[in-house]
Amino acid sequence: MRYMTAAEIRDTWLRFFESKGHKIESSASLVPQNDPTLLWINAGVAPLKKYFDGSEKPTNPRLTNVQKCIRTNDIEHVGKTARHHTFFEMLGNFSIGDYFKEDAIKWGYEILTDSRWFGFPKEKLYMTYYPDDFEARDLWISLGVDPSHLIPRPDNFWEIGPGPCGPDTEIYFDRGEAYDTRGKELIEDDIENERYIEIWNIVFSQFNSKVGLTRDQYPELPSKNIDTGAGLERFACVIQGTKTNFETDLFYPTIQHLEKLSTISYDGQMAFKVIADHIKALTFAISDGAMLSNEGRGYVLRRLLRRAVKYGRKLGLFEPFLHKLVQDVVDVMGIYYQNLEETKDIVSKLILKEEQKFLETISEGERHLTDAIQKEGNHISGETAFKLYDTYGFPIELTVEYAEEHGAIVDLDAFYDALNKQKERSRNARTQIGSMKAQEEAFLNFKEPSLFVGYDHLQREARVIKVFEQGIVLDQTPFYATSGGQVFDKGTINGLEVTDVIKLPHGQHLHVIEAQFEQGDEVLAIVDPKTRLKTIRNHSAAHLFHQAIKDVFGKHTNQQGSQVSDKSWRFDFNHYENEPEKRILEVENLVKTYIQQTPLDVIIRQMSLEEAKRIGAMALFGEKYGDVVRVVDMGWSKELCGGTHVKNTREIIDFAICSYESI
Ligand code: ALA
Repeated sequence: MRYMTAAEIRDTWLRFFESKGHKIESSASLVPQNDPTLLWINAGVAPLKKYFDGSEKPTNPRLTNVQKCIRTNDIEHVGKTARHHTFFEMLGNFSIGDYFKEDAIKWGYEILTDSRWFGFPKEKLYMTYYPDDFEARDLWISLGVDPSHLIPRPDNFWEIGPGPCGPDTEIYFDRGEAYDTRGKELIEDDIENERYIEIWNIVFSQFNSKVGLTRDQYPELPSKNIDTGAGLERFACVIQGTKTNFETDLFYPTIQHLEKLSTISYDGQMAFKVIADHIKALTFAISDGAMLSNEGRGYVLRRLLRRAVKYGRKLGLFEPFLHKLVQDVVDVMGIYYQNLEETKDIVSKLILKEEQKFLETISEGERHLTDAIQKEGNHISGETAFKLYDTYGFPIELTVEYAEEHGAIVDLDAFYDALNKQKERSRNARTQIGSMKAQEEAFLNFKEPSLFVGYDHLQREARVIKVFEQGIVLDQTPFYATSGGQVFDKGTINGLEVTDVIKLPHGQHLHVIEAQFEQGDEVLAIVDPKTRLKTIRNHSAAHLFHQAIKDVFGKHTNQQGSQVSDKSWRFDFNHYENEPEKRILEVENLVKTYIQQTPLDVIIRQMSLEEAKRIGAMALFGEKYGDVVRVVDMGWSKELCGGTHVKNTREIIDFAICSYESI
């Protein structure tokens, strides 16, 4: 086994599988695209699900990749063991209905043991298999693996959330007695140890795991597939002969930098490892467009950052320091992940802001917690934990860790009670505002189609197809219903004022009107052209503004909400600082240029979601789109949108930003 850098390991992996006819797939974003079941890409197979479940066909049924992944279920092991991470890279090879068990195992053994590839000593490898899977066991034996190195294990079934899953065979590397004098019973009994490192998992992926079904009810996938995952960091540890993953070339530069910053020497201390791990996850996730916030992905990142800051304090780092480590991550990883270099400035700025924000309250929070431990003894009440969370921004997991360090426990039930009560309060506030939401059963059951003709017409003779208590639905209508941030059209039906237009669950527009109509009535629907014109000017201007903030404030800025009416528009976006007036005017002027000096044609086209992505159309994050999407293309700005727009941006006439505030 010869020494290899992490970069060489990636390269060796991809070249081997390429030589076996696999197509190299580039690493997908950590933020799952079109997959609401996942918070993060957590395995090499995750972005390839669409091929496994048959919804898309790959050009080559053999694929290989190095995939960046985040898993936070093992977070408390990070830094304690040699091999756990929140961010890691998974090396994989995949067969979509092509080769199966025999080739997967044969090639697996070849790349591991052949001296032209990794050349691991054969006697150091152990394999586990699913107890019924004699085929897998016999295949290993046929390649020369000593039967005493083959271990049946009932938990050899790989499954992580909904999607492809199946029985697997795992490969372990024995690092020898120096790490543990106990033998292979450590694997047999699944005992936590540092001697046998699981380096690779080969999954015979045949089933589709679904929420609510038991394993024996999982449907078979359309074909038998291979899904494998090897940990790059673990390969590096074994090949580079380091004690833990953290002394490999994937982490050590960050640790050395931390030694300099703290003037403390590493000596395997946990704080260094936690920080080196977390800063990598943060850098990658933010560079892939995730944001720090109080929910979902953003909360995970916030928690990682705050945890890292807390460990920094153990090293005497009381000022912001994490942002200084972004460059180390870029230096080590930038060769393979090119977007890191492009985004590093914004990533470190965002991290710095968040560090500052947390540091402002952390000392006070720590004081509060220490007081509480003194007062409440070894039991921290839910109320205290909630106050720490709500007022001082302590993620609950952090409070638990602090408490543990002082031999105290936290009343988690009471904490979650308090949290749920708070959530309920804000939910109630929201539903009251949302008033008549289209939840009613009558709406849900109403499926008759109604055509929206308002992109091209402002007047229409139409027929009433349904009368609800709140209003009427027409067979066709020129009225835009409030959606996508644009408010409904004003106007009349048979001369009577339409006071609201609501989109029903099946897409029809419900016209709220105070008058008696009957099903079958013929009516004349007229949209007020003056307010419509003002609305479309504002909507098109909002698109220009969206592109302008990306150009001026940075690509990370994205629409988070908007409201466009005939009177004005409001646009919410994420950003990390309050901009000075000069820069806001810069945005304003840029938009004005595209209205007055070089106006743009507005072309509206239908296309596939794939095509829209290819031409760089902006889509709203987290929004679910159909296969065919509507793209509003102004050349400089391209956006997926269902709204109404001007035909040329000169029709907007003029543009001004009236106010700008940070919420
Ligand atoms: N998908 C498998 C894993 O993550 C290979 O272990």
